[in-house]
Amino acid sequence: MAVIAHLSDIHIDDERSVRRTRAVVDYLEDLPYDLDLVLVTGDIADHGADEEYATARGLLDSRHPVLVCPGNHDDRGAFRRGLLGDATDAANAADAGAVDQVYRGAGFTVLACDSSVPGKPEGWLGDETLEWLAAEVGRAPEGDAVLVAFHHPPVELHVPYVDGIRQFDAGRLAELAGRHPRITAFLAGHAHTAAATTFAGRPLLVAPGVVNTVRLPWERQAHADHHVHLDQPPALAFHVLAEDHRLTTHFRTVSTEG
Ligand SMILES: [Fe+2]
Ligand SMILES: [Fe+2]
Repeated sequence: MAVIAHLSDIHIDDERSVRRTRAVVDYLEDLPYDLDLVLVTGDIADHGADEEYATARGLLDSRHPVLVCPGNHDDRGAFRRGLLGDATDAANAADAGAVDQVYRGAGFTVLACDSSVPGKPEGWLGDETLEWLAAEVGRAPEGDAVLVAFHHPPVELHVPYVDGIRQFDAGRLAELAGRHPRITAFLAGHAHTAAATTFAGRPLLVAPGVVNTVRLPWERQAHADHHVHLDQPPALAFHVLAEDHRLTTHFRTVSTEG
């Protein structure tokens, strides 16, 4: 059995975002259990600034292994420098390539794709990322569950604001998944709401937002309502992978008191 904590959208900028992220990370640090992975699916730095990444790096320094992928609020170069310790010229280039990463755990492989499009809020997987993904699915050790993670959900979640900036052109990914039955599930963030649906016949689990929670259309009482709840507690998902690759997901809220 493997247990993966999945958080998303910490949007580090002000004291509030730091306090909420710290509450979630402290909760994970205090668990009487060694997690197999802490996955953070993007929107790490609210403005993609170097100082926000420095803060995020400190907050996400954990006794558990951590894998972080970028979202639309992230800047690829600053993300590489600040979180991956990449000091090469490539990290600093304005056209820095997609940040695609592999994590191998005990009995599972996470393939974290960069669905960000520099300068745009919506998501898209580039051809290079899709080629990389297909190759890495093939390279995953025999018997491993294969989890594909990215920031932008590739389907509508019935939240118009989010649906308008989802991962587009997702038919290419669905076609890839059709050729690779080893893909167990898809994991995403971006929506700032805990959600479960399917994509390409596989589970698609969306981690809630740490920084805030999106207001669902049937929660909006007046057009004056803000599009997010600021009063709901930060939350995260736990994905439990059984030996037979069956995936169970639990969602948890975390207190910011004390
Ligand atoms: Fe976000
Ligand atoms: Fe996002």
